[in-house]
Amino acid sequence: MTTAPVRITAAEGPGQPERTPELEELYRGFESELLVPLWTEIGDLMPHEPNSRAQAHAWRWRNLLPLAERAGRLVPVGRGGERRAIALANPGLGGAPFATPTLWAAIQYLGPREDAPVHRHTQHAFRFVVEGEGVWTVVDGDPVAMRRGDFLLTPGWHFHGHHNRSDAPMAWLDGLDIPLSHYTGSTFFEFGPDEVGDRTAPARSRSEQLWSHPGLTPVSAAGTPRPSSPIAAYRWEHTDRALDDQLALERDGFAGVLEPGHAAVRFTNPTTGGDVMPTIRAEFHRLRAGTVTATRREVGSSVYQVFDGAGTVRVGEREWTVAHGDLFAVPSWQPLTVAAAGGEGLDLFRFSDTPVFDRLHQSRVHIEDTPVEDIPSEGAAR
Ligand SMILES: [Fe+2]
Repeated sequence: MTTAPVRITAAEGPGQPERTPELEELYRGFESELLVPLWTEIGDLMPHEPNSRAQAHAWRWRNLLPLAERAGRLVPVGRGGERRAIALANPGLGGAPFATPTLWAAIQYLGPREDAPVHRHTQHAFRFVVEGEGVWTVVDGDPVAMRRGDFLLTPGWHFHGHHNRSDAPMAWLDGLDIPLSHYTGSTFFEFGPDEVGDRTAPARSRSEQLWSHPGLTPVSAAGTPRPSSPIAAYRWEHTDRALDDQLALERDGFAGVLEPGHAAVRFTNPTTGGDVMPTIRAEFHRLRAGTVTATRREVGSSVYQVFDGAGTVRVGEREWTVAHGDLFAVPSWQPLTVAAAGGEGLDLFRFSDTPVFDRLHQSRVHIEDTPVEDIPSEGAAR
């Protein structure tokens, strides 16, 4: 005997019908025909403001890394499993390997001299390197060095494999839109060769040779917007300098920081000026020592990773002290406040699903205790 997937429970309250045997009979009729009335579900389906099933949660690098190292000893990397990637599972999402309802975040671990085979998928992916070096990710045949602080792109449907050229293991953060693709049934996947085709180890990729010069677009490619950025790697030296320069401008009395003591940059697609990929926004935030951010709520979810420094993070009712490598998930519309430790600043990498909500014209930001009102963004969210 199978259990009907629809279960309707009569609700109490205003606007609800009187509970009678006839009503129960009506509800059993709905169940057998797989029908659900709005009036019993409206509080859950149409809340007055976003009420995500996901929970605010923090994962500790000091716990993740030893587990990844153990996986490195026990689990091979090869065709089939494809990657030694261990995903953050949000406690509100029923054990699924989803950090938020739309975002996948995983620690990926590659042992010394190890390869991860080539494949491609429609999901958009990036890597953020919190520590280490020695791995090259080869994207459509272009070897891209991975080094501390770098942010690397693998937009959807580009072949990619990794190879570790060094005698040391390396672990990094993978971010993808896997949950969004999974829920919406839009995923395609294809195997490529078992090994990367180009085992050279250039300091700069061909993509960077073409695209990574500030404010300069190759004329051969000018005027054609691309859905994802053609820059395979955003190097730490540029990110670091941009953040330092914002804080220097603030010290000299000029505009540029997001708020006092808080520098922030967004990784962008040089062919559009917009986000790096259609489903993922990525940013880097630097707080001067002792800085406390305004409390912000945003539609859509984010995952942060502490790159350097220490501080305190409050998301709704939850609060954690965080340090190097720690990750935390911020569900939609939960208020976020970050405070950098007094003695040192705080560097934070952030990624979010904001481009999705921008495109749906559902982005909204609210900054508490300031004159800033809710901001329906109409596609130009902050
Ligand atoms: Fe992949």
